[in-house]
Amino acid sequence: MVMDKKQIAIIGAGVSGLTACKHCLSKGFNPIVFEAESQVGGVWTKTIRTTRLQLPREMYQFSDFPWPPSVTDTFPTQQQVLDYARSYATHFNLIPHINFNSRVKGMSYDGPSSDTWSLWNGTGEAFPPEGKWNVTVENTQTGTTKVYTVDFVILCLGRFRDVPNMPKFPEGKGPEVFQGQAIHSMEYSAMDNNKAAELVKGKKVVVVGFGKTGLDIARECASVNGPEHPCTIVYRRDHWKMGSWFPLGIPLMNLISGRFHNTQIEADIVIFATGFNGPKKLKDIFESPAFGHFIEGPPLVGLYRESIPPRIPQVAIVGFSEGLSSLYVAESTSRWLVALLEGKFKLPSTKEMEKDVARCATFRKQICGECYHSPVLCGVEIWYNDQICKDMGMNPMRKKGLFPNLFEPYGPRDYAEI
Ligand SMILES: Cc1cc2nc3c(=O)[nH]c(=O)nc-3n(C[C@H](O)[C@H](O)[C@H](O)COP(=O)(O)OP(=O)(O)OC[C@H]3O[C@@H](n4cnc5c(N)ncnc54)[C@H](O)[C@@H]3O)c2cc1C
Ligand SMILES: NC(=O)c1ccc[n+]([C@@H]2O[C@H](COP(=O)([O-])OP(=O)(O)OC[C@H]3O[C@@H](n4cnc5c(N)ncnc54)[C@H](OP(=O)(O)O)[C@@H]3O)[C@@H](O)[C@H]2O)c1
Repeated sequence: MVMDKKQIAIIGAGVSGLTACKHCLSKGFNPIVFEAESQVGGVWTKTIRTTRLQLPREMYQFSDFPWPPSVTDTFPTQQQVLDYARSYATHFNLIPHINFNSRVKGMSYDGPSSDTWSLWNGTGEAFPPEGKWNVTVENTQTGTTKVYTVDFVILCLGRFRDVPNMPKFPEGKGPEVFQGQAIHSMEYSAMDNNKAAELVKGKKVVVVGFGKTGLDIARECASVNGPEHPCTIVYRRDHWKMGSWFPLGIPLMNLISGRFHNTQIEADIVIFATGFNGPKKLKDIFESPAFGHFIEGPPLVGLYRESIPPRIPQVAIVGFSEGLSSLYVAESTSRWLVALLEGKFKLPSTKEMEKDVARCATFRKQICGECYHSPVLCGVEIWYNDQICKDMGMNPMRKKGLFPNLFEPYGPRDYAEI
């Protein structure tokens, strides 16, 4: 089979890398996975103490590997999600394909130029007659590097870790002149739970950012310090939040100060929960700035079917466009991508793909309004899944009967048979 001969590299073994690997294997490919850390699970390997799944587990599950009956919480804990990802890797025998402690330092392309393309890879197919990627991998334990030559690279680097998004300050007005401690949420999350609690105990803490991480850190501060030392959240834009608004019985709103304005807030510690710059991580993996240049953003990364950068050869991305459940989207993308790798369909012209990307951005803007810039598919997973089913020649109506198709909610399990 041709699949045996084509070498695919997958970078990252978070849930996106795992599902990409599983689907490659299921179609006869023999991928090699590089994971910088010593274990699978990505963001779930270490989080703030109280992190749980923020949506019901039925929506965050592999379609062909349901949660075990032992997990009964609607919103499983970080450890439960991590265990679930690990069991998926074990169940589908993915571990032997993963090179742990293997950080990809960069990748360079050896093949024809994409400048004159009218079709991706010149053919609209995944494997053109010429062209290879050289992937430089560092063993983080020994410090040695090795170059792997492959036919196709699937980037599953993750969007929400590694590269912090730090606000820019005018010279002389940033953390360098602050007497206290200024850290990014990434450092706080990486701490041992007791150390994180010690760090904020009895301190005046200011959290910048009104994302889920900012709220979680404020909640941690509330449980360590109680109402005596309220923590302050500084934010620039309101977001509608759902969930527990009464940590330790203290209304969370009591802890919230307000938007940016010209006021001085005393602080011993400032924690920047200002998110991550995922697109930069993607850009930086390409040794040639010309390829990095094709990765737009932040905020959006222009990917056809949330996966293909139309002007970069033999590369796909999984896990950059999140939905309400990122796992749900990553799995759909992986299935679609592997069908493309198998040659089940060809891609339209690069111009068509770029138009489609622009159309999706407009659609997203209409649906999501002000937040359209976020990578979230904003509840349009069904629309996305319909498109990929059609590309793959499958019926997008996955349920039996008109009524269930029209009125029952769709979820990962509806796609188990694809
Ligand atoms: C705290 C937190 C909670 C979240 N909760 C939810 C939730 O409830 N629901 C939801 O839908 N989404 C949630 N998300 C979003 C989350 O990012 C996705 O759910 C999902 O886990 C992302 O998986 P991933 O595999 O795409 O990326 P990651 O989990 O980030 O995995 C990427 C992997 O790639 C590896 N890697 C990166 N660069 C390299 C390199 N150069 N070489 C080798 N390996 C590399 C990393 O080590 C990592 O293991 C959460 C995110 C965070 C940070
Ligand atoms: N399961 C869980 O419980 C859980 C826990 C943590 C995180 N997560 C997920 O992980 C992902 C990352 O979450 P996150 O909260 O770390 O990041 P995020 O969602 O990107 O939020 C970043 C926050 O920082 C603000 N911000 C960014 N730059 C700023 C600046 N220069 N000045 C002031 N504010 C700035 C943003 O404001 P604007 O909105 O105005 O841009 C936003 O409020 C999300 O998908 C989240 O849902 C899940």
